[in-house]
Amino acid sequence: MNTPPVFGDAFREELATLMAWRRDVRRFRSEPVPPALLDELLGLMALSPSVGHAQPWRVSRIDEAERRAAVQASFARCNAAALAEYEGERAALYARLKLEGLREAPVQLAVFCDEGTARGHGLGRRTMPETLAYSVVAAITQFWLAARAHGVGVGWVSILEPEEIARIAGAPPDWRLIAYLCVGYPQEASAVPELVREGWEGG
Ligand SMILES: Cc1cc2nc3c(=O)[nH]c(=O)nc-3n(C[C@H](O)[C@H](O)[C@H](O)COP(=O)(O)O)c2cc1C
Repeated sequence: MNTPPVFGDAFREELATLMAWRRDVRRFRSEPVPPALLDELLGLMALSPSVGHAQPWRVSRIDEAERRAAVQASFARCNAAALAEYEGERAALYARLKLEGLREAPVQLAVFCDEGTARGHGLGRRTMPETLAYSVVAAITQFWLAARAHGVGVGWVSILEPEEIARIAGAPPDWRLIAYLCVGYPQEASAVPELVREGWEGG
């Protein structure tokens, strides 16, 4: 028999602390993430809710130097185009931000939504097909929190060309890029988002 767990005040407090200290990480230490831990985190990610129980998340590891260089090149193009759209002080501030850990992060994951999946038999998606992609975002959040609980940082990079990342990952045509995740042990911890600390956006 499965006995449902009862969560106490101490756990709830720790969970709130985990959420408050989660952070998007762009500065990583070089030590590797143990493969068994990464597997565990991906297993926890797969416990996430999904529309119709479609479980549409697909995760590709990007390990080879050549493929990582191609991702960095995509970021450089997108970031230059983004910078060009700001002016004055906002442009100067944007130029100072570190918006990825693509050179340092020991683990890099391209996370896709499998828009061709038959799982779930379309349940919940007839009027809101975008819920398939939302399911992947929910799973990423779960991965993010589980990682932080183990002291592992995650940085979500979206300043990329999705078709180019799909090409680099060798993804099938039905897979749509949802996130490119940098994963590794963070150089620092903070209860305040980096973009707030850098003065980009209010707290
Ligand atoms: C969908 C999504 C895309 C993001 N893309 C980037 C990105 O390309 N570069 C970056 O530095 N941060 C990115 N972030 C991280 C946000 O900037 C960060 O979550 C926000 O500033 C709040 O900081 P916190 O996550 O540390 O609380 C992204 C976050 C989300 C949810």
